[in-house]
Amino acid sequence: MKKAFVCGWPIHHSKSPIIHQYWLNELSISGKYSKIPVEPETFSSFIRSIAEHGYVGGNVTIPHKQAAMQNVDHLDQAAREIGAVNTIWLHENKIWGGNTDWIGFVENLDQNCFGWDKKSENALVLGAGGAARAIIYALKFRGYKNIYLANRTLERAEQIKQDFGQSIIPIEIPAIKDIITRQDILVNTTSLGMDSLNPMPELILDSISEMKSGSLVTDIVYTPLETELLKTAKINKLNTVDGLGMLLHQAVPGFEKWFGVKPKVTTQLRDLVLSR
Ligand code: ATR
Repeated sequence: MKKAFVCGWPIHHSKSPIIHQYWLNELSISGKYSKIPVEPETFSSFIRSIAEHGYVGGNVTIPHKQAAMQNVDHLDQAAREIGAVNTIWLHENKIWGGNTDWIGFVENLDQNCFGWDKKSENALVLGAGGAARAIIYALKFRGYKNIYLANRTLERAEQIKQDFGQSIIPIEIPAIKDIITRQDILVNTTSLGMDSLNPMPELILDSISEMKSGSLVTDIVYTPLETELLKTAKINKLNTVDGLGMLLHQAVPGFEKWFGVKPKVTTQLRDLVLSR
C-alpha cells in the first residue's frame, strides 16, 4: 500500500486528507493519505526520514513551506522561483520539492472562467505573502504584462519585485483606486475575510465598482465560499471565481506523482469538501 502525508503545525484543520482519500476510493487505489503534526524543530529530520517510514511523498503546509526548500535534494522550477515547496515526492532515492499552488490557481480559473487570460494585460494582486508569490508566478506564466501588487507592508511587495522583475509594480493600498479601472483581473491573496481558525477582518474595497465590465475577481479565501469581496464583485456584475477550486486543483499533480493516476476535480468532490 502506498502512503502519503500532509505535514504542518498545527494540521488538524487540513482538508487535504478528504481530497486524496476521496480520489483513492474513487480510483480503487490501495493507498493512505494522513495528517502528520510536525513541529518546526523536527521538520528537517521528518522530511529526511520519509522513505524509511514508507512514504512515497506528501504535502507540506504552514509553517514549513519555506523551510522545505532547504530540506529536499532537488527543487522543480516553480518551487525555485516561487521560493516555497508544497509537494514532496521521491525519485531515484532523492527527495524532490515542487510547488503546485500556482497550478491550482491556473486550473481553477481555466475551469471556471474560460478565457480569463485571453487579454492578460493588467492584474492587481492584494497581499505579498507566500500565496501571492505562487499567484504572481502563475500570472506571469499566463502572460500578464503588468502586475500591480498592493500590500499593507510595502517592503514585502518591493521584495517580490526584486525576485520577479520589472512586471511587478508595488503600490500602497490607497493607490488602488487610481489603477483599478485598468485591471483585467483582481486577486485577493491575503487572509482578510477568512472566517475559520482565527476570524479575520473583512476585505472591503469600495473602488471595485469601478472595475471594467468583463473583468474577473477571485479570492484565495474559501471559508466562507462567497467572501465580501466576491459578493461586492457580483453586485457590480463582474466575473467571479471562489478559492475552493485552487485547493482542489493544487492537489492533482501530487496525487498523480504518488499514486500514478491523474485524478479529476468534480462537483461531487467539491460538495464533499464543502460538507466537512
Ligand atoms: P501566506 O503565506 O498564506 O500568503 P503570509 O505570508 O502571512 O501568508 O501573508 C499574509 C498576507 O496577508 C500579507 O500580504 C499580509 O500583509 P503584510 O505583509 O502587511 O503583513 C496580509 N494581511 C494579513 N492580515 C492583514 C490585515 N489585517 N490587513 C491587511 N493585510 C493583512
